[in-house]
This record gives sequence, C-alpha cells and structure tokens, in this order.
Amino acid sequence: MFGSRVPKTGKQHQLEIHLPETRWIRLHGIRPPFGFTISLLQFARWGGMTKEWMLMLLKITTVGEAVLRQQARPLTVAEIRSAEIQQLIQHMRETMHDAPGVGLAAPQVGFPLQLAVIEDKQEYFAGLTAEQIAERERQPVPFHVIINPVMQPQSAADVEFFEGCLSVPGFTAIVPRSRQVRVECLDETGAPRVVEASGWYARILQHEIDHLHGTLYLDRMQSRTFCSIENHARLWKNKTAAELKAGLG
Ligand code: CO
Repeated sequence: MFGSRVPKTGKQHQLEIHLPETRWIRLHGIRPPFGFTISLLQFARWGGMTKEWMLMLLKITTVGEAVLRQQARPLTVAEIRSAEIQQLIQHMRETMHDAPGVGLAAPQVGFPLQLAVIEDKQEYFAGLTAEQIAERERQPVPFHVIINPVMQPQSAADVEFFEGCLSVPGFTAIVPRSRQVRVECLDETGAPRVVEASGWYARILQHEIDHLHGTLYLDRMQSRTFCSIENHARLWKNKTAAELKAGLG
C-alpha cells in the first residue's frame, strides 16, 4: 500500500512520501544463509528468478483523477537526495520502461511533485520509416530526471504531430508544440542543469512539464484530430496532414 498521498496538515516541511513497504528489501538487499549481503537482483538471479519478478511498478493515474489537474510542488535539494525520492525515481523509471513510455511525471503515479523521468530509445521508434523519424527529428534520449523545471519555448508552437499519454490510454491527437525549448532544472542529485532540446525531445519535455502544472495534451490538442489508437493505426498513420484535415477537420 502507498499510505497517504495527501499532505497532512501541520507537517508541511516534512516529506510526505510513503513508498511501499517492500522498499527495505531494495535498499538493504537480502542476507542469505552464507553470511554476506547481496542485492535483491543478485539474490533473484541466484534463485533463478527473472529481473521482471522484482520490478516495482507503480499504478498510473488516468484522466479524471484530480492529481493530474493539480499544480505540482517543487522539491528541495534535501528532499531530492532523500531515500524516498531516490526510490520514487527508480520506481518511476521501471514503470516508464514497463508501460512503455518516453516520459513519466510524478502526478502520473499519484504524487503532485515537480519531478519527471524521460528516456527515448531507438527501439520505440523502430516502427517509423526513416522519413517519419527525420520529420519528427526523433533521436534516442538517454534516461534522465528533471526536477523543478522552468521552460522557455524558443519558437512558436507550430510543429504538429500525433501525441499520446499514458494517463489518457487508448487515444491520440495532433498537438502543436514548439520545435525548440530551453529548460532549467535540477537533476536527480539536486545539481542544476540546462537542457536545450529540439524536435521530438522538445515535444517530450513540453508534454512532461505540462503534467507538472496540471495540463494534459487534451488542453492543447487540435480536438477534431482526437482519435482512438486503433483508428489512428488503421486510418491515419501513414496519411498526410492535408488528408487528415480533409477527413476529420
Ligand atoms: Co502524459
């Protein structure tokens, strides 16, 4: 169980994060009979278990849950370095990989905190043609964490592509986004970072940072292009923007 996700009154300065009770096993490992401590992963392998057996997957919130519409609060450096937040980051990473998704914001796992994890892998866009990858300016992005981000778009929101969200499962729509953004944030160690991104990575950043301010792509989409994933794959995936607008616009 997750315990309370709602901050208790009078304890505003304390971290109100309660991770599952299994966390001790990940932090401290297991002490098997032969007298020294090994990690749970080593123990699981020793016992013939697969890595999947020990993944900690968080429940992803979906549209209609209030946490997705709240303004998330910033984290202090001390909070970022706490065991609770470090565990949350690890669980969010595993949850994002499992989904799979290219980004996951803390409100999407129930925590109104200004924290998101991002990673785009080559295998995720293997289904796109070389031309589609080029026009999306999509490149692999290594795993990283953004905390308390402040974003400055470097261009108008005029790049139009279909976009989806793990919190709006089963649907997609065209969302205009800026081609280029600059983001100032903290990383998972609490150190300041500046991210200059363009293309699909800039889109991911805009989508995730929106989550930290209670905004979903639904608020920015061209609403007449909203369609189910199935219909998108069946009818529109390889059509031009002009064909799409003629059909749905
Ligand atoms: Co999303």
